[in-house]
Amino acid sequence: MTNKKRPSVYLTRKLPDLVETRMRELFDAELNIEDAPRTKTELVAAMQTVDVLVPTVTDRITAEMIDQAGPQLKLIAGFSNGTDHIDVDAAARKGITVTNTPNVLTEDSADMTMALVLAVPRRLVEGTRVLANGSDEWGGWSPTWMLGRRLSGKRIGIVGMGRIGTAVARRAKAFGLSIHYHNRKRVNPATEAELEATYWDSLDQMLARVDIVSVNCPSTPATYHLISARHLALMQPTSYIVNTARGDIIDEAAMIQCLRDGKIAGAGLDVFENEPVVNPKLIKLAKEGKVVLLPHMSSATIEGRIDMGDKVIINIRAFYDGHRPPNRVLP
Ligand code: DGY
Repeated sequence: MTNKKRPSVYLTRKLPDLVETRMRELFDAELNIEDAPRTKTELVAAMQTVDVLVPTVTDRITAEMIDQAGPQLKLIAGFSNGTDHIDVDAAARKGITVTNTPNVLTEDSADMTMALVLAVPRRLVEGTRVLANGSDEWGGWSPTWMLGRRLSGKRIGIVGMGRIGTAVARRAKAFGLSIHYHNRKRVNPATEAELEATYWDSLDQMLARVDIVSVNCPSTPATYHLISARHLALMQPTSYIVNTARGDIIDEAAMIQCLRDGKIAGAGLDVFENEPVVNPKLIKLAKEGKVVLLPHMSSATIEGRIDMGDKVIINIRAFYDGHRPPNRVLP
């Protein structure tokens, strides 16, 4: 790549300093120092002049925008694991390669999923809130106060047993939960044996039997509202749901209704249907202690973001060296 013209690379958001420095060394990189999310008009304008677009999950790269891109745009090197925000089909039609940053977020995302699996039934945030303004509100230890639900011995049902789902299962097993999962296909026998996992072909049947549901599948047209009102109604009133994948996999309005009606016991959510807007009814439920809400931060570690940046760089370099980028996303 050194002898050739440096590709122009447009970063839609501020990335870690280390990543930006490296990008500037290697490419003709345009940074977004202020980190203000780019408007659609700004993105379309960039797509008409730059060789490589580096979007994040906050940029929706639609077919309409891709159709307006100039012929010089050859690569959309996503700074993300998920690619639901990029119309990969439209990019393929236009001969634009799309890449993402898989694998490097797996452990961080699984850690945060497990943190929610622990936090909701054990009322971690409610407890913290009691002491947040000093200890005056606390009357001291009581045998019947702030009781949560035991995790050990319970069943977790993982929806989507890919890399992150499997990493969640490993953690959950270590906490004494038995592993159940629903996936398009069974995982390999060695993984199933290691996790002592039970495969449920029927999502309905699994939801009716588990104590905690963890959503870990990607957002695709096929998984939109995969957990519908009908599915939520199958869950036990003592059960919890955790979602660190994408908000639109659960019918959020139906989930809120179930939480309000006591049809499910609680939820731990890192993702929402309409990010960054969070339904005020969820905020109210959080104040009531029924849900724990996080602002889409399950993969937010310093190490993870640097690893993501490295992957973006590797993909761009491979592409401009004439190789197939290692993380090419196919339609
Ligand atoms: C991703 O990259 O898909 C994550 O959701 C960001 O946290």
